[in-house]
Amino acid sequence: MTKKTIRFNSGATDFYFAGGFSQLQTITDRAHTVLITDENVFEAHSNRFKGWKLIVLPAGEEHKTQPTVDTVINLLIEMEADRKTTLVGIGGGVVTDITGYVASIYMRGLRFGFIPTSLLALVDASIGGKNGIDVGVYKNMVGVIRQPHFILHDMGFLKSLPQKEWQNGFAEIVKHACIRDNAMFMQLESASLKQFQSKKTLITALVQRNALLKAKVVQRDETEQGERRLLNFGHTLGHALENQYTLMHGEAVSIGIGIACKLSEKLAGFKQTDRVLATLEKYGLPVHMDFDRENAINILRMDKKAGANTTSLYFVRKK
Ligand code: GLY
Repeated sequence: MTKKTIRFNSGATDFYFAGGFSQLQTITDRAHTVLITDENVFEAHSNRFKGWKLIVLPAGEEHKTQPTVDTVINLLIEMEADRKTTLVGIGGGVVTDITGYVASIYMRGLRFGFIPTSLLALVDASIGGKNGIDVGVYKNMVGVIRQPHFILHDMGFLKSLPQKEWQNGFAEIVKHACIRDNAMFMQLESASLKQFQSKKTLITALVQRNALLKAKVVQRDETEQGERRLLNFGHTLGHALENQYTLMHGEAVSIGIGIACKLSEKLAGFKQTDRVLATLEKYGLPVHMDFDRENAINILRMDKKAGANTTSLYFVRKK
């Protein structure tokens, strides 16, 4: 296991690369820790959780909502969690988002960390401090920016990862290569998904490279005033399509990247569209989709229809 600390303006994150779940007890005090996972991770790895206080959430993006947050908060109250409690999210992006968000608001903020179990969470969702929930079709509409105290990598979790989830993670890896790492882009062009899946050293190095790439972009621009916006490549339209068409995040981002490349080609003479699309497709990702443009644009703009001079008056009634 190697430890690397990245300091952000709002706090530091200790990255424990190539570690193992069993090391969690050296990072956090079991008596004052609550683990949060989802039913898929729990079913595949239930033996790892013995002896820990644990909350198991239903799996799926449709549960990344306020009712799930309320349920977790009520369970924490029942468990008598207090300011000394650490929350650890063990799962994909939905689990890390909910854990980070609840930890940021429960008793005005608890210590929290993550053990990302999906490729997408290892290279992207666990890193950067944005933790929040969806509101209807609007992804990540409510949330915070607060950095996890630690992120522990246990590559053993990838053994139970379905093929679709591997492909999902590669959308963010290709995105990172496009925005900041030409050498990695060329590696992705020449290697294959199968090679990464079968060689532990190869995937471990790729995950670490991507995690540090993202962490360093966030370190330079935590509140997304400039450089961090690069990480949104493919995400603006991707997010507008994701919940509307129940796509996986990676699929939505990949389609978003495809459209962004074609637009850039038309508007700014971008010449690498074919290479980017071919690489995404090589990792099993879609790059085209027929979608309702008007609907997508409305979601994209958050459908702000009220004019500047209109009075809007809403009474919130008791149910
Ligand atoms: N938690 C994901 C991010 O901050 O980008």
